[in-house]
Amino acid sequence: MKLRIAKLPGDGIGPEVVDQAVKAVDAVCARFGHTVEYSFGYVGACAIDRFGSAYPDETHRICLDSDAVLFGAVGDPKYDNDPTAKVRPEQGLLAMRKSLGLYANLRPVETFAALAHKSPLKQELVEGADFLCIRELTGGMYFGEKGRLDGGDTAYDTNIYHRYEVERILELAFNYAMRRRKHLTVVDKANVLESSRLWRQVAQEMAPKWPEVETDYMFVDNAAMQLIRCPKFFDVLVTENTFGDILTDEASVITGSMGLLASASVGEHTGVYEPIHGSYPQAAGKNIANPLATLLSAAMMFEYAFGLMAEGAAIRRAVTASIDEGIVTEDLAAGGKAYSTSEVGDWVASYIRNSK
Ligand code: IPM
Ligand code: MG
Repeated sequence: MKLRIAKLPGDGIGPEVVDQAVKAVDAVCARFGHTVEYSFGYVGACAIDRFGSAYPDETHRICLDSDAVLFGAVGDPKYDNDPTAKVRPEQGLLAMRKSLGLYANLRPVETFAALAHKSPLKQELVEGADFLCIRELTGGMYFGEKGRLDGGDTAYDTNIYHRYEVERILELAFNYAMRRRKHLTVVDKANVLESSRLWRQVAQEMAPKWPEVETDYMFVDNAAMQLIRCPKFFDVLVTENTFGDILTDEASVITGSMGLLASASVGEHTGVYEPIHGSYPQAAGKNIANPLATLLSAAMMFEYAFGLMAEGAAIRRAVTASIDEGIVTEDLAAGGKAYSTSEVGDWVASYIRNSK
């Protein structure tokens, strides 16, 4: 198969971790007989510096012309403490999600046996936890009308959802639940928010179409508690954009490191595969960032974008082996030797090429 991949490393540690994913993709292609063609695109702060836009038209064209986008991270501290900045790196990510119609963000939370001790939660709570967070990605407060009034002293963001947006993400969630343990938790704040009442109403209307799925409803504040109190309760969790952003950062600590969580953003056009962590500017250029989340995102890319399950599994096996063998970066090296980003990437790529 010929794979056309858009490579958008972005800012901070993005380029370093994406480089490791590229090594793994090349190794998979060599092993399974695929050819791959990469197209590079600027996004985030590096795109602002060069083009004055965080998601230039050229980058959008590159994405549209590709079968999948391998994305690193965006963000630069020089924008974080300047609330008056006109353009921000994060706008690049949001513009990309919106213009590619990527309404569903899939963030699987899986635990690795060898890392259960790294979690801040008790080992017995964590071991065997395995759930999928589905976050709505192109609606809600992120994209609703926003602005300032009273000469700037009043500010608002509108949390707006249309029925079709709720229906399409719930449909996807019910279908994923069917392919997993058939348990769906719809997370909202229906005791307070009108938009959440629409979510709950639509979910209740749709649920009878999936009689085998056990559907329950949970307020987001309670969900934040249950995620760390009993992560094994969850199978598929679906929620709106802002709640999903917050809950998935929380969920990432269950696994022991934020550097482990991969994601796929899918919808109308080319899907984007990216780690859930940010640009980690303090580590940029130091060759210390954990590349595993990006490697696992590349595994998701093979599975979701190309339907190449064995290829995705080959990356997953290599990642698990690297953890078992202790070939890990400093965030995971509990007292043992810490390997650099590129050493982990090289080890994983060579495992993919050479393992039986
Ligand atoms: C994420 C990130 C983004 C978001 C930022 C960088 C805009 O936190 O993908 O979770 O809020 O969606
Ligand atoms: Mg986030």
